[in-house]
Amino acid sequence: MTDQSAEARERRILGTELLWAFGVGVLIAAILGTIVFTALTRDINPPSNVERIDPKTLHLSGEFAEQNLGTTVAANGSVVVRAIATQFMFVPHCIAVPHGRPVTLRFATPDVVHGLLITGTNVNTMVVPGFVSQVHTEFTRTGDLLMPCHEYCGLGHSEMWATVQVVPESDFKPDRDGRVSCAQR
Ligand code: CUA
Repeated sequence: MTDQSAEARERRILGTELLWAFGVGVLIAAILGTIVFTALTRDINPPSNVERIDPKTLHLSGEFAEQNLGTTVAANGSVVVRAIATQFMFVPHCIAVPHGRPVTLRFATPDVVHGLLITGTNVNTMVVPGFVSQVHTEFTRTGDLLMPCHEYCGLGHSEMWATVQVVPESDFKPDRDGRVSCAQR
């Protein structure tokens, strides 16, 4: 083997390595670009809210006690939805929200890890025991949306889902306590 052929082989290896490095660089740029693009244009972000809650007592008092679950409109007009994810259902089973108005969704679980998404929206989060999962969104279409559990949580996982009823602003009327429930159909 001459020095020259060794040198040519070195060059070829370097060329291949640079080509791969370039390809990987393009891929990383595309992935980061997609993350930044969807974050800026579609509000798809990783959850950033770290808030602890005791899974053993959350149903006894406070915002996740049964009488406080569902949709609440505060005096300043802000809409907050509170729901519990538990084996194997969401409480409440139907959530009423207004169309075209910011909504804050808050979830907690007393048992195991669940996950949820609302079809066609940016709502997609895990619900982990010990933490409150909070998501901000705005519903841009009226009608019923499906909210399934998307994290395997036991034998009844496939039966675990809720409905999100997006109603026109004119039909979104809180009662005296500021509560809104799904219309019976
Ligand atoms: Cu809850 Cu799967």
